[in-house]
Amino acid sequence: MNLKGRDFLTLKDFTPEEILYLIELSAQLKDKKKKGIVEQPLLGKNVALIFEKTSTRTRCSFEVAAHDLGMGVTYLDPQGSQIGKKESIADTARVLCTMYEGIEYRGFEQAIVEELAKHSTVPVWNGLTNEYHPTQMLADMLTIKEKLGRLKGVKFVYMGDARYNMGNSLMIVCAKLGLHFTACTAKEYFPAPELVAQCKSWAAESGGSVTLSEDVSEATKDAEVIYTDVWVSMGEPDEVWEERINALKPYQVNSAVMENASKDAIFMHCLPSFHDLKTKIGKEIHDKFGLDEMEVTDEVFESEQSVVFEEAENRMHTIKAVMAATLGAY
Ligand code: CP
Ligand code: NVA
Repeated sequence: MNLKGRDFLTLKDFTPEEILYLIELSAQLKDKKKKGIVEQPLLGKNVALIFEKTSTRTRCSFEVAAHDLGMGVTYLDPQGSQIGKKESIADTARVLCTMYEGIEYRGFEQAIVEELAKHSTVPVWNGLTNEYHPTQMLADMLTIKEKLGRLKGVKFVYMGDARYNMGNSLMIVCAKLGLHFTACTAKEYFPAPELVAQCKSWAAESGGSVTLSEDVSEATKDAEVIYTDVWVSMGEPDEVWEERINALKPYQVNSAVMENASKDAIFMHCLPSFHDLKTKIGKEIHDKFGLDEMEVTDEVFESEQSVVFEEAENRMHTIKAVMAATLGAY
């Protein structure tokens, strides 16, 4: 498998074999890290990390992974560059690829990261856009494989806003790798029909399936993975909170959902999560709408079934695999 020179913008562009290769490489790199084996196959190279939205996991994963591979990093924060304000994306790409061997971009429309990649001669990695979050998918699939021992045939249910980056990307990766994906949400939050049709055709090839359902009890029955994400994503206006709470409250992951799922089901979340009142936004929403917890109850988040912190750790190992493979280290 040779992925050298490839961009990593959405898993729509990758075959099931390529995705499985990256998951396997991640597992190998994780094993080496745990054993304290230090290899720096990309010593002397440098990567630029552009973040037009905030981040904890993705930024830290890129930085630690780059250092582990022997590379230097430059972090460009949401305010700290000329991008988009004084300099076009095309010009930014043409400048950065004279200095760096790879560029990560987190921001708004997918069209922006596509434009960056078009004008860059070095690999561009999508660290989250409004539409997709492909590096998160590798971490999620690695976590499922570690916990359930397989991917094909796994009954996977995503609850919440299924028409944004997480819902779209999870539907794509599940369809490509043969999981049974269900988006369980209000119908206004179903993924776009064209993407659903595309995913159904991938699922037909992989042996998986794609289902859209508004019925919590039917959709989550015997599920092996219950996944959710925040109800309002980065970059969305505060005004959408009210409609989101009204529409998605019935799709909160709570103990009734977990009890209806398989007894060995795991709970997953890309994080960050509003499961208590220990965040500024969590407190504001509580004061305005009286909610103590949102997309997942604190009870489920803190339960034995929750694998969210192992999932977060896997962001680093999988991002390392993406950089290593596309920069030709392995
Ligand atoms: N899951 C995820 O992308 O987290 P950050 O926003 O902290 O990077
Ligand atoms: N849907 C969320 C994912 C965060 C990792 C957002 O875009 O804010």
